[in-house]
Amino acid sequence: MSLSVHRLRCTGCGVRIDGAQVQSNFRCVECGDLFEVEYAWSEGAVWPEGLAERGTVYRPNPIALKHLWQERKSSTLAVDQSGVWRFRELLPIVREERVVTLREGDTPLYEMPRVANSLGLNWLLAKHQGMNPTGSFKDTGMTAALSVAVSRGFTWVACASTGNTSAAMAAYAARAGLRSLVLIPEGKIAWGKLSQSMDYGATTVQLKTDFDGCVKVLSEIVKRAPVYLLNSVNPYRLEGQKTPAFEILEQLEWQVPHHLIVPGGNLANSSALGKGFMEMKHLGFIKRVPKISVIQAEGANPLYRWLQNGGEGQLQPVKAETRASAIRIGNPASWKKAAKVLAETGGWVEQVSEREIALAKAEIGAEGIGCEPASAVTLAGLKKLVADGRVGQEETAVLLLTGHTLKDSEYTIHFHRGDLLTTEELAGQTAAERAAFSRLQREPLVLDADVDVVLRALEKEAGQPV
Ligand code: F0G
Repeated sequence: MSLSVHRLRCTGCGVRIDGAQVQSNFRCVECGDLFEVEYAWSEGAVWPEGLAERGTVYRPNPIALKHLWQERKSSTLAVDQSGVWRFRELLPIVREERVVTLREGDTPLYEMPRVANSLGLNWLLAKHQGMNPTGSFKDTGMTAALSVAVSRGFTWVACASTGNTSAAMAAYAARAGLRSLVLIPEGKIAWGKLSQSMDYGATTVQLKTDFDGCVKVLSEIVKRAPVYLLNSVNPYRLEGQKTPAFEILEQLEWQVPHHLIVPGGNLANSSALGKGFMEMKHLGFIKRVPKISVIQAEGANPLYRWLQNGGEGQLQPVKAETRASAIRIGNPASWKKAAKVLAETGGWVEQVSEREIALAKAEIGAEGIGCEPASAVTLAGLKKLVADGRVGQEETAVLLLTGHTLKDSEYTIHFHRGDLLTTEELAGQTAAERAAFSRLQREPLVLDADVDVVLRALEKEAGQPV
């Protein structure tokens, strides 16, 4: 099997093109929609005779692949140690020698016993994509798309970002010896992410606009300069980002969870995971797929609004505002792909408030796991799905945690100091919420350097002599 045999299929009009022919903005010339990667074995693939004759039509064999993918975990080869390229039979987009990897993927699937208990669920899991090399799920997509950039001979890559894509791109570009251009909204991304892009040597530009404004500027730049676009409109990103679906199945010994809960920003990740699960079903690895639900912040909720209004016609962009800065996105590029995943898997879209996000983030922290605010929307959304019975007690739900807690430590510190939320945001708080906030808030104590003083503080905390 060749490792670089694929085509691009337009998700709007269905036209198929060779990967190398795609426009620099990754939009279809015919209809302007986005592409997805298609292989000879993909569902509904239309595969040219010539390619089939050259032996490229290969039907993956689930039993053999499950075994091979496990075996690779003990290999010393870089491509085998990557939790993305370990599955390379299902993402043949570049030749093996062109792969740029930081050993991404293979992230933990944690149990969340305390949160499960408080929600009345038997079992709750969190797939922590924040445990990737640059601290977010973006690494799995970046290894894929940046490897394609290398094989297409680009020397410059670029992205507009709310911070995590840029951190990942800068790191992978540095590994590959490529130059990278980062466009970020000035003052609106977390410091940890900004520092990463500088540390990895990107040309970092803070534009006086929001994320959606950065996307607009970059879409013009890639038309005028030979710069390879690494935003999630690039369909190769999604090929890498589909692999956590394979990992979740492996980690659950091929038992399919009932629900996967994903944060929604530009809506590429939910699309990618949907593609991953649907490919697994199509190829016979599993018999059904989980319901994939997307959770948006109330202040950045265009998909939620679109569905509330009947889910027809075009999505109306919103002016986005949320402290979960990673998902402060008002005009999501991949909304049609995500809407299709929701429809095909039977999942829902929910919106959650700033207060609900803050509380959920602290609860995930108290499990000893932690995540960035955008990831915590998953738990806040799950609570709503449990409350009205859309997620049942016996069902298995997996939260997709997208970023590491250290990405946005400022948010965490404000939460614990009690000055994160405004009075308006706190208004309407239930008694249970108020109790949960005060139980979870851990403001640092400033004490004299005296043993007795510290022990007294400890006793106070424990509520009894220690
Ligand atoms: N969670 C985190 C931590 C993110 O960084 C993002 C997106 C999302 C969730 C949403 O994923 O866009 O695929 O729906 N961050 C992008 C960035 C946009 O530039 O880093 P999505």
